[in-house]
Amino acid sequence: MRILILHGVNLNMFGRRDPAQYGNATLAQIDSGLEALGRELGVTVECFQTNHEGEMVERIHKVLDEEVQAVVINAGAWTHYSHAIADALAILKIPVVEVHMSNVHARESFRHNSVLSAVCTGSICGFGPASYLLGLRAARNAVIHMNK
Ligand code: DQA
Repeated sequence: MRILILHGVNLNMFGRRDPAQYGNATLAQIDSGLEALGRELGVTVECFQTNHEGEMVERIHKVLDEEVQAVVINAGAWTHYSHAIADALAILKIPVVEVHMSNVHARESFRHNSVLSAVCTGSICGFGPASYLLGLRAARNAVIHMNK
């Protein structure tokens, strides 16, 4: 099984952002944790990060021509307003898990709404780097047990 991890805008700055919200782990550390869990679960994990919305949309389009069984996405601030990313995810016929490091519901009101949630299989937030690990487990579980 192959699962694609998508990191959106500003997430390459993990480790240098507000530690109260995001802790101290860098994106490279998060990605190696995901790869290690992938090895344990028999999942090939590919990680991709961009700060460019169009690049993210095109990476999602590429999934249509790939052997990828599920997607885990933390879209960063795009979560709250990018209908373009929501439209791209809606094209996919595979499970998509939305993740956030912080508990977005306990923060500013503009973070309470996700324009992506409705086109995702489910969402996980508030567990720091473990949100990603739970997201990977949820995506694998969805491939095995659910249809999108
Ligand atoms: C985030 C939450 C978003 O509101 C924020 O814009 C981010 C990170 C998270 O992982 O908690 O950049 O997606």
